[in-house]
Amino acid sequence: MSTFKLGDFTNKKNNQQKITVVTAYDYFSAKIVQNANIDVILVGDSLGMVIQGHDSTIPVTIDDMLYHAKLVKRGASNSFIVVDMPYLSYHNNISDTITNAGLIMKQTQASAIKIEVNDIATIKHIEALIQAQIPVMAHIGLTPQSVNIFGGYKVQGKNEEQAAKILNLAKLLENAGVFAIVLECMPNELAKTITNNINVATIGIGSGVNCDGQVLVFHDLLGINNGHQPKFVKQYLNSYELMQAAITEYKNEVELSKFPTIEYSY
Ligand code: KIV
Repeated sequence: MSTFKLGDFTNKKNNQQKITVVTAYDYFSAKIVQNANIDVILVGDSLGMVIQGHDSTIPVTIDDMLYHAKLVKRGASNSFIVVDMPYLSYHNNISDTITNAGLIMKQTQASAIKIEVNDIATIKHIEALIQAQIPVMAHIGLTPQSVNIFGGYKVQGKNEEQAAKILNLAKLLENAGVFAIVLECMPNELAKTITNNINVATIGIGSGVNCDGQVLVFHDLLGINNGHQPKFVKQYLNSYELMQAAITEYKNEVELSKFPTIEYSY
């Protein structure tokens, strides 16, 4: 049973123990992740793609996040749960940002929120949230909500200028008081430099071997998602094929009157 606390991000970093993070979106996915003793559950806005079937996270709303985070809390009430702030829920004014994050914290009883940061302007929103006693995990590098600015899902920080901008953001976020930073899709060397130059924990996804922890999307890790997979995804199971085969077998058995047999009857 996970008893992970906010301070454990730094404790684990300092003790060179890796932090494990997996996404979940509903009661059973949360229950499975919690029972595997994963340190942290992320209710990611990736739900826009793996639950809702969109081709980006842009359509996801605060109401979607509230709905899924409540289901996750029900399935994993003892876990450290981080909930994504969706697209345009923290870009307007600071008062709206605090209202939206407050809704998530109050209605879902999450432990913290996560915010994608692609420019310095977002830092003042994060400072205001922390002042309002809302713990913030930041997310830099390939921030999927910026897909239209990036022109696709591309590795970030490949040239010196981009790398310096991302490293600078990481340092500003540390000063702002975030408790951890997700580093998505950046070169191994850049993620290593960031990890070695800040005191807050880094959680990598597609960012090499030196981060303080790792995160994967539930549907990618389990192979429920049978679409194109980026290089960084390791599928530990091919659930899509297993589920497809099981449902096909059920259909065949019903049609051949092999199911139900008398043992499934009252
Ligand atoms: O939305 C999400 O699931 C995420 C992780 C991939 C880091 O942001």
